[in-house]
Amino acid sequence: MKQGIPKKWLTYTNNFSMLEEAVDWEPLREWSLSDVQRVTFKSGDTAIAKMGHDSMAGEMRVYQSLLEPFNLPRPRLYDTYENATSNIFLMEDLGKDTIEMNPLQIHFVNAARRLAEIRKMATCRMSSLNSSIYQNYFKSQEDVLEDINFIMENQNLYTPDELGILKDCLEELPKHLDRLYREHEVTITHNDYNAKNLMITNQSIIPIDWSNAYLSPHLGDLYCLINEAEDNGIDKSVVIEAYSELDKSYDIEWQIQVGGICWLLHGLCWVCKEGIHKVPVTRSWMPPMISSINECFKQI
Ligand SMILES: Nc1ncnc2c1ncn2[C@@H]1O[C@H](COP(=O)(O)OP(=O)(O)OP(=O)(O)O)[C@@H](O)[C@H]1O
Ligand SMILES: [Mg+2]
Repeated sequence: MKQGIPKKWLTYTNNFSMLEEAVDWEPLREWSLSDVQRVTFKSGDTAIAKMGHDSMAGEMRVYQSLLEPFNLPRPRLYDTYENATSNIFLMEDLGKDTIEMNPLQIHFVNAARRLAEIRKMATCRMSSLNSSIYQNYFKSQEDVLEDINFIMENQNLYTPDELGILKDCLEELPKHLDRLYREHEVTITHNDYNAKNLMITNQSIIPIDWSNAYLSPHLGDLYCLINEAEDNGIDKSVVIEAYSELDKSYDIEWQIQVGGICWLLHGLCWVCKEGIHKVPVTRSWMPPMISSINECFKQI
């Protein structure tokens, strides 16, 4: 059955002339902070309409400020609109196939190759970014440590063991960050490089959902991909090997663990700042995230 314009979208449709031709809206995600719809037009063509609020309101700018200058594989943006708290964009429909729906080894392998390619393209073109954009998206080692301090501010959220892990992290992480930022080039990090955000198009992988992206050397994206591959019974060495075809760093295993810690801290910080207030279920993510940080340290 055809669906009309969802209520949330009514106030925005005037900003998009394309939407005058919309005949069907299929909800793909309906969160409080974001809303994604597949729109079908009179012609039968489709597009994806995405609305993001607050911390999710920066994705359109990521496309324009980073993905376009780096010329990364991405869905085309057809039209955009933003105000003080929200961004809305219409983009190319890349089809219905994500790695989450089709979690085969070949797709994880291709996603690892794609990640190495993306990181290389971004480092090669980094100097073309204007400096204010670079500063805006660059996450320094001090910023990572600030995340830990912020996470620890509300001590009531943690058990004594969890607090112990966070304190150890504050003590142990700086030397690893020093080495990471000294020895590895700054590139783009997606920070949600998960199967549900990896579209399969003609066997090649195109990441979507870039709202958490920033500039940093850390390899948390490979950490995420490996974890999900393992959840699907795929040996992590196959995925790491695929990544390493293009990135020949000698210390990939170490980078994966440090990247994992950076990514987990970023996520925890978001949960503390916004998640627990706006998406209460995220409170339950905290204990497993802290124990994953502990696991990463054990593997270093
Ligand atoms: N350009 C696109 N082409 C095809 N499908 C898309 C596209 N963008 C998003 N989708 C579909 O919509 C889903 C939700 O999109 P997206 O991940 O951008 O939203 P989100 O609100 O950030 O979701 P989540 O927080 O669950 O990751 C994707 O998993 C994918 O199935
Ligand atoms: Mg997503």
